[in-house]
Amino acid sequence: MHLKIALLAGDGIGPEVINEAVKVSNVIAEKYNHTMEWTPALTGAAAIEAVGDPYPDKTHEICLASDAVLFGAIGHPRFDNDPSAKIRPEQGLLKMRKKLRLFANVRPTFTFTSLLDKSPLKQERIEGTDLVFLRELTGGIYFGERGRKDNGNTAFDTCTYTRKEIERLAIKGFELAMTRSKKLCCVDKANVLESSRLWRETVQALENNYPEVRVSYEFVDAVAMRLVQWPNSYDVLITENLFGDILTDEASVISGSMGLMPSASLGTENALYEPIHGSFPEAAGLGIANPLATILSAAMMLEMSFGLKEEGASIRKAVDKSLSEGIVTKDLTQNNGRSYSTSEVGDYLIKAIKN
Ligand code: IPM
Ligand code: MN
Repeated sequence: MHLKIALLAGDGIGPEVINEAVKVSNVIAEKYNHTMEWTPALTGAAAIEAVGDPYPDKTHEICLASDAVLFGAIGHPRFDNDPSAKIRPEQGLLKMRKKLRLFANVRPTFTFTSLLDKSPLKQERIEGTDLVFLRELTGGIYFGERGRKDNGNTAFDTCTYTRKEIERLAIKGFELAMTRSKKLCCVDKANVLESSRLWRETVQALENNYPEVRVSYEFVDAVAMRLVQWPNSYDVLITENLFGDILTDEASVISGSMGLMPSASLGTENALYEPIHGSFPEAAGLGIANPLATILSAAMMLEMSFGLKEEGASIRKAVDKSLSEGIVTKDLTQNNGRSYSTSEVGDYLIKAIKN
């Protein structure tokens, strides 16, 4: 198979972790007789610097012309510390999501047996956790009307959802639940928010189409608590954009490191794969960034965009091996263990895949 991938490395540690994902994917392609065609394109602070736009039209064209997009990270402290900056790297990410119509953000949370003691949560609570968030990604408060009034002394952001937007995300949730343990949780705040009541109403109306799926409706504050108390009571969770943003950061604690969790953002025509961690600018260029989340995102890409299950599994197996052998970056090093650099971890995975 010929795989045409747009490669958006972005900022901070983005280029380093992307580099390892490319190395590993190329070896997979070699082993299974595929050809990879990578087309690099600018995003984030790097794109602002070069052309004054965090998601340039040229980049959009490259994404549209590719079968999938592999993305590193976006963000730079120069902009974080300047509230008056009119153009910000993060706007590029939001523009990209909107323009590629990537409405469903798939964020799995799972544990690795060899890392159970890395989580700050008690081992017996997190053991066996295997859940997936489906976060709505192109609506809600992220894209609603916002502004200032009263001479700048009042600010507002609005959360708007249409039934259609909720329905297409919910359908993906039901379908995913059918391939797993047929359990779906709709996370909302329907006791307060009108938009949440529309979420609940829309999901309830779909229940008849999926009689085998058991649906629970839970308030977001309660889910925030249960998620760390009984994470393995959940399977597929669907939720709106901001709730999903917050809960998926919380959920990443279960796995032991943010450097481990991959994600997919799906639309009807395009798909983008990225680690859930950010650009970690303090670590940029030091060779200490954990490449595993990006490498696991590449595995998701092979499986979800191209149906290459065996290839994806081969990457996962190599990742499991590196974790159990302790060939890991600083964030995962056990007491007194040696830590390996970003590229050493990539090199180890390549060796494991080849054997
Ligand atoms: C994420 C990030 C982004 C978001 C930021 C960088 C805009 O936190 O992908 O979760 O809030 O969606
Ligand atoms: Mn986030």
